[in-house]
Amino acid sequence: MEKLKLGFIGCGGIANQKHFPALAKLGARAEMLAFCDERPERAAKARADFGVAGAQCYASYAELLAKAPVDAVYVLTPNVSHSEIAVAAMRAGKHVMCEKPMAINTVQAEAMLNVSVQTGKKLTVAYQNRFRQDSIALHKACRAGELGEIYFAKAHAIRRRAVPTWGVFADKAKQGGGPLIDIGTHALDLALWLMDNHAPALVVGQSFQKLKDKPEGNVFGPWDPATFEVEDSAFGFIRMKNGAVVQLDSSWALNILNPKEASVTLCGTEAGAEMAGQQSQDKGYIIYNRVRHNQMLEEQPSLGSGGVAYFDGNAPKAGDGEARAWLDSLEHDAPLVVRPEQALVVTRILEAIYHSAASGQAVYF
Ligand SMILES: NC(=O)c1ccc[n+]([C@@H]2O[C@H](COP(=O)([O-])OP(=O)(O)OC[C@H]3O[C@@H](n4cnc5c(N)ncnc54)[C@H](O)[C@@H]3O)[C@@H](O)[C@H]2O)c1
Repeated sequence: MEKLKLGFIGCGGIANQKHFPALAKLGARAEMLAFCDERPERAAKARADFGVAGAQCYASYAELLAKAPVDAVYVLTPNVSHSEIAVAAMRAGKHVMCEKPMAINTVQAEAMLNVSVQTGKKLTVAYQNRFRQDSIALHKACRAGELGEIYFAKAHAIRRRAVPTWGVFADKAKQGGGPLIDIGTHALDLALWLMDNHAPALVVGQSFQKLKDKPEGNVFGPWDPATFEVEDSAFGFIRMKNGAVVQLDSSWALNILNPKEASVTLCGTEAGAEMAGQQSQDKGYIIYNRVRHNQMLEEQPSLGSGGVAYFDGNAPKAGDGEARAWLDSLEHDAPLVVRPEQALVVTRILEAIYHSAASGQAVYF
């Protein structure tokens, strides 16, 4: 079988940290053939580091879509251009892996879903946290009914002082918002996927810009308050149609102990589950809580066993799993793990939190 041919639009941080290294391990199945970045030196470096012999660089995504004989493209640009590029790519006959969030608003995300349906081209969103070992184990437990009915969840996306200082993360026009759309999107996606519930009824939210002028102590170095245009934290309360509720906490900078990111707490009628450890480094694990024989119990897996990603040496990376699942879908028509309809619901809820924060009103679906 011929290898899949892949193109990349945006050759910055996430391309180099996640997608290129993951695909480099899958060279027997797919080749990295075309690279595009507004900054030509980035596309040239990506081609040199990861490109197959004969790989090409393009100055514009339109040129790549018109000329590069690729089966699928990766959209790895700032949030504002996800929809425009993904729509153009599917219309040009390419399948699309789009970085998160799907888009900066519902209208743009709906356009992507509609074009995917019209063209029959596959569209997925890069929620790699679903591919962590702890997430996979918890998802199995949830689907097996081990937690019973899950009626309360907390989606955690809280950093104490970790405002991203590269790229355009604090630029409202380019990103659509701050920590809510940047990291809140991962935690909410995990919560809804684990609950198997994508039907929101009501959203109330509040956002803050309280620490923007206090850049000291940031783990990525001080940010520039003059160009910090987005919220520094945002919180949402979501009631689902079946009555379950989700509390979403997101922040890049908050005076709080024990920050937690890409992490979920689930409370069900039979048991609860808490994601613990260092999720962002694939070292997360689950602590279950339940009652048995009249005693409250906590259970957790032995670290280092059963696929729990604890030691670096045997830790399968979430990005590698994401890449494998995408190639399975392209090559063998395996079902998408992250379906665009689900990512659209995440986008809808995040937009509703921003609307509620701006208007002071609840948003009803
Ligand atoms: N999945 C994750 O956990 C994760 C982590 C970080 C970033 N991201 C997402 O990845 C996307 C990019 O973030 P990043 O950290 O890589 O940013 P970045 O700034 O490091 O890289 C983006 C690249 O896109 C290029 N670019 C911008 N507009 C372009 C266009 N129209 N055509 C071609 N190239 C263009 C820029 O020159 C830059 O090199 C964002 O949507 C972000 O939310 C996801």
